[in-house]
This record gives sequence, structure tokens and C-alpha cells, in this order.
Amino acid sequence: MSELPASPHTFTITFRSIVKVMPVNRNILGHFIEHLGMCIENGIWMYEPTTKELLAEPPLERVRRDLFDAINKLGVPILRWPGGTFSDTYHWKDGVGPRERRPVRKNAAWGGIVNKMLGLKLGPVERNHFGTMEFLALCEKLGAEPYINVNYGTGTAEESAAWVEHVKVGIGKTPHTGKLWGIGNEIYSFSEKGYERSPVSYARGYLLHAKCMKAVDPTAKLVAVGWSGHSKWNRILLDIIKDHVDYLSIHLYFNDMSLLKFLLSTKPLPSTESFYYAELNSAKGFDRIIENTEADIESVYGKDNPGKCLIAFDEWNVWPRWGSIFKADAPHYRLVDGIWAALVLNVFIRHARSVKIANFAQLVNALGMIITYDDRIVLTPQYIVFKMYGDNLLEHFLPIDVDCKETITSIRISKVFASETMPIIDAVATTSADRSMISVFLVNKHFSEPRTVRLARDGGLPLDIIGNVSHVVMTSNDPFAFNSNDNPESITLVTTTIDPRSLDAGLVIPPHTVVALLFKQNGGLR
Ligand code: AHR
Repeated sequence: MSELPASPHTFTITFRSIVKVMPVNRNILGHFIEHLGMCIENGIWMYEPTTKELLAEPPLERVRRDLFDAINKLGVPILRWPGGTFSDTYHWKDGVGPRERRPVRKNAAWGGIVNKMLGLKLGPVERNHFGTMEFLALCEKLGAEPYINVNYGTGTAEESAAWVEHVKVGIGKTPHTGKLWGIGNEIYSFSEKGYERSPVSYARGYLLHAKCMKAVDPTAKLVAVGWSGHSKWNRILLDIIKDHVDYLSIHLYFNDMSLLKFLLSTKPLPSTESFYYAELNSAKGFDRIIENTEADIESVYGKDNPGKCLIAFDEWNVWPRWGSIFKADAPHYRLVDGIWAALVLNVFIRHARSVKIANFAQLVNALGMIITYDDRIVLTPQYIVFKMYGDNLLEHFLPIDVDCKETITSIRISKVFASETMPIIDAVATTSADRSMISVFLVNKHFSEPRTVRLARDGGLPLDIIGNVSHVVMTSNDPFAFNSNDNPESITLVTTTIDPRSLDAGLVIPPHTVVALLFKQNGGLR
């Protein structure tokens, strides 16, 4: 490839050799559904009459077909349920047996909240029509691995073990038999039912659950409640449970973090250039939290211990205002939130060694990447990014260098989301197991200007692209554009193919844009 004159706005990506194969687990593209707001109630499960077509087959007969199809297109690898906070209040036997006989209960985690806000007397109830059988059937139809969170907060170890038994013996005849179980959720938080002040106390309770559950299914994999950024909790906990845990759960949401503002405000996140950069650079906060958690795990297991615990980043998203949990269209998720999701996925891909599961919070309506309306569904930019990554993510991490010296310094939001100086171009690459396919995920974070990216054919691993390159783009003129019921296709994915020779001049990436490139390498990359 001939050298281009150096331009301050053209950056080169060089592919490095793979010294150690690092599989990228597709489970980082996982999802989460909770009995919260309209995620399951009249989202996943239509209690109310609807004119929309429903899936015909039992036990999924109250699932909207348009919603199912949209979820299915994502190729969901793993689905977490029933919470979240709800799981520490949920007694699974409420959700089995003939639906008309299942009890109606107040939603003990989230009930009463909507009524306070609306000034009504009655809180949302939990009618329990979407229970274990329905969840497993949904997973099976989606080809997703079920990930069930048991009730640590208000349940017992025996109840959890009986649930494992129920799934294993009663229903688990499919290849997707439930194997992955979380024990508790954010149990360190005073707002969680069954709140544990001390990691020692949680560790004791965890072990009771773990031993009873493993007695039923010795092949079960278990997830314990980690606390992002709280090494003391993580280390004390892991030290006690280290031989009985497979994953440490970590949660992190981005918002502007003054607790009072978060709880009370109904305003959207600021649509300003400085906040835009703060949001995008907050991906660095995720990176740091993962590094801290890796250090916590290593401090207990040592370096490169093959039996060590891995990370399940099983809740993450932008959570603009506390009230936005009740439906993600107030305010809408914007293009910037989709670009942010791509940057966080890039962080997970770079940490493929330790992050083996991640669950976006959440799939439908409650902070949802899909919003349901009576007559249609709307796909948010986060959905679009998941579609892009799902279609293009390959099996192994491919290390690259990006010679991008142009950086942007963002304002401080909080301790976790500090002021950061980050390159304007963010990129990661993956390759197929036989090295014949390569994908590159690129973000131009610039608020208003395009930037150019070249793929080096020399200087690292030599590239010899055969055929055309698939070029998938998510962009808009406005970084704060969003899809809505009135304008559902303001942001979409645009897929074209490009001649690899045209890449020699560099690929121009518009401002605030995510791009995926997918191509075939002659003879495989070595
Ligand atoms: O995703 C919404 C809630 O956020 C979950 O229930 C809880 O785990 C977290 O605080």
C-alpha cells in the first residue's frame, strides 16, 4: 500500500499477531428481563387484550410476534431472569402450574412505586403468568442459554435447590437446560430485600445455597454477587467461597450520578457537546471497574489460575433517571447512548480473558432496547448496536494498534466516571477460529467532524483481503437523534459493500458514528 501524506485526521490500524488465542464469548451480548414496569407485564407477556398477532404455540401464547421476531433477530446467546431486585423477592412456585391458579401478588420489589408517582392507590401486581416454564420455553425458542437468579434475599437454600430440581427434572429436557444460576442480586445494597451488610455474612448464606443447589445438579454453574469498585467486599467474599463459585456478578449504569437528581428529576440527560463526550468517555469507567475486579479475583486465585472465577457483567446500560425504569421512552434513548453501548462492548471484547458474560439491562421497555407500543415496536440505538455486533462478532480477539494521537478530554461526572482523556477513534477486531474472516468495530467519537481510518496492509500482519468488504454503519446527522413511535426509523443500520482497494485511501467515518467491517483474508491471517 502506498504511503498517504500524513494527515492529523487520518489514523492507521495495524493488526498484530495472536500470541495467545483469546476466545471472545458471545455471551457478552447477553440480555436481561425482569418483572419490573412493563418489561414482562404487557411487554414480554401480554396480559391485556391486543390487536397484535401473538405466538400461536403454548406456553408462549401471550408473546407478541413482532416483539419475538425483533428479539430473535439479535441471536440472543443468554437471557437472565427474573431479576434484578425482583429476584430477591420472588418465590418460583408462584409461577408454575395452571396459570389461572397462580397467585396474584404485589410486586414486592417494584410494587407501590408507580402508584406513588401517579398518586394512585393500587400498585402493580404480579400475576405470575410468565414463570419458569414460559421463561425456559422462550429461551429454547430463541436458542438462548437460560440464566436464572434465585431468591437469596427472602428465600431459602431449600427453595433454590427445589428450583434447580424443577428445571432439571421437570422441564430440562432440552439442550438449553438451566445450568447457570445467580445467588442473590446487589445484596450489598440497603434497598435490596435481604440486604447483607457484610460479605462474610453473605458468603455464609451463599455457601448454603450453593451446596444445596450443587447437590441437585453438580454441573450447575454459580454466580455470586460482586460489588463494582468495592474490592474489600469482593476479596473477602471470594476468599470464603472461592471453590464454590464460577462467576462474580458486576453491575454498572451510566448517568449523571447525583443521587437526588437521579431520583427526582424527569429531565433527560443533557444534550450538550460536553456531556456527549463525558458519556462516551465513561466507557473508561467500565474498563477500570473490570480491571479492579480482575485484580480482586487474582488476589484470591493468583495469576492465570485456570480454575479461577470469571466476570459476569450482568447489568449495564445508561439509566438516565430513576423514573425512566418504568418505560424507556421517557426520555428516549438517543444515538449517543447507542454509540456508548458500542464503546462498552469494545471494552468487554478487550477484556475477553475475564468477561465471559454480560447482560444488557434490559431487553424490553424497562430501560429497554426495544420499546413496545399498542401498534408497533420501536428499536433503540442500543438494539441497533447489538444487531451490528451480533452479526459481525467472530470467535477470537485479534489485537490491533490504532495510531490515534488525537484525544478528547471530558468533564468529570463522578468518582467512577472521572474526567478522561481518550482517543477520538476507538476500535477492536475479532477473527474467526480458522483466521479466514476478520471483523473490525470502529467508533468515530468526534461530535461534529469526520475522521479517516486506514487498515495497514504492512507493518503488522500483512492483510490480503479477498472479495468485497461488508460495511455496516449506524449514524445520523444529530448525535441526539432517537427512534420514537412517531419516527421509528430515524436511526437504522445501513449495510453496503466496499471494494478493498478503496480502503487504501482510507475509510471516512462520519462524526458520532459506529462502523463494523467484515472481510475475508486470503489464506487466513497468520
Ligand atoms: O435493572 C434495574 C435494576 O437495577 C435491577 O433490578 C437492579 O439489580 C439494579 O439496581
